[in-house]
Amino acid sequence: MMQTITLTRPDDWHLHLRDGVALQTVVPHSAAQFGRAIVMPNLQPPITTAAAALAYRARIRAAVPPGVQFEPLMTLYLTDNLPADEIKRAVEAGVVAVKLYPAGATTHSDAGVTDLRKTWKTLEAMQRAGMPLLLHGEVTTPEVDIFDREAVFIERQLIPLRHDFPELKIVLEHITTREAVQYVNAADRFTGATLTAHHLLFNRNAIFTGASGAGLRPHYFCLPVLKREMHRQALLQAASSGSAKFFLGSDSAPHAAHLKESAVGCAGCYTAPVAMELYAQAFDSVGALDQLEAFASFNGADFYGLPRNSGHITLKRETWVVPESFAYDEALLKPLRSGETLPWRMV
Ligand code: DOR
Ligand code: ZN
Repeated sequence: MMQTITLTRPDDWHLHLRDGVALQTVVPHSAAQFGRAIVMPNLQPPITTAAAALAYRARIRAAVPPGVQFEPLMTLYLTDNLPADEIKRAVEAGVVAVKLYPAGATTHSDAGVTDLRKTWKTLEAMQRAGMPLLLHGEVTTPEVDIFDREAVFIERQLIPLRHDFPELKIVLEHITTREAVQYVNAADRFTGATLTAHHLLFNRNAIFTGASGAGLRPHYFCLPVLKREMHRQALLQAASSGSAKFFLGSDSAPHAAHLKESAVGCAGCYTAPVAMELYAQAFDSVGALDQLEAFASFNGADFYGLPRNSGHITLKRETWVVPESFAYDEALLKPLRSGETLPWRMV
């Protein structure tokens, strides 16, 4: 049985860092594990210009602890009105991708796209520039059951979009279903997908399980919501299959604990402090630790056309207890698995 595993320093291809003092808590957690991260633009107001992305990048860099190498890779937030010529400025500024949230799909998505046809010229400019489109792939139609929203998005939105933009680089973010795995496996080299650690480790029962029976666990609520076990199995198989189309995107999404543990709780799992430990546990559960490095450290860089990292990290099979919480501005931030014992630890 493998006791330690050393990997090329991994990258996180989907991360929420927020802004302001929150950066002081969360940036060091990601920077301790990852060489780079694609930073989501769903601030309030969202990041919709290259200039705003550069200013945000400077604030993130200022929160990286001294002596630590961590490169935030910036994104723009697609709205109905993002002008096509902003794409040129974004490329020049080193922005790496544009994120599409269907309006109302999730946290801070009110400014998202109401109708893909409105973004046509911008998508054309992106296809020409080789700028990837990152999709929150869920329909927002209230009539569609929340557990079906990803599969319906693929049918109604993604298949027509791909037909109209055959060479647009697309990443289907945080996929949660067998249908998404099948779609990505059948797609060509212009399509990739990220997978979170929590969707690899947990099915939807985790949201409704207490210490001794039933209970409601808000820290397991995220969007897209955890799905049935058969979907988790399909995701785990895809991540560990060796296919270069699947790569690590933690979707670590911090919310103050009191905003999650409330009558209307926020969506998002804060996994940054335990991300690689959780991925190691997931890959180990199917005897696939040998596939972890390609998934975490190679496939995403290759998809984005960026160099692979040069440093290393080591994980050890050793139990440890996840901290209960972290100070987060004037509130507390609870990581997923807070206070619980994990089988793998970063050393
Ligand atoms: O659970 C989620 N939280 N899903 C998202 O898509 C957004 C994220 C957030 O920003 O909190
Ligand atoms: Zn996200």
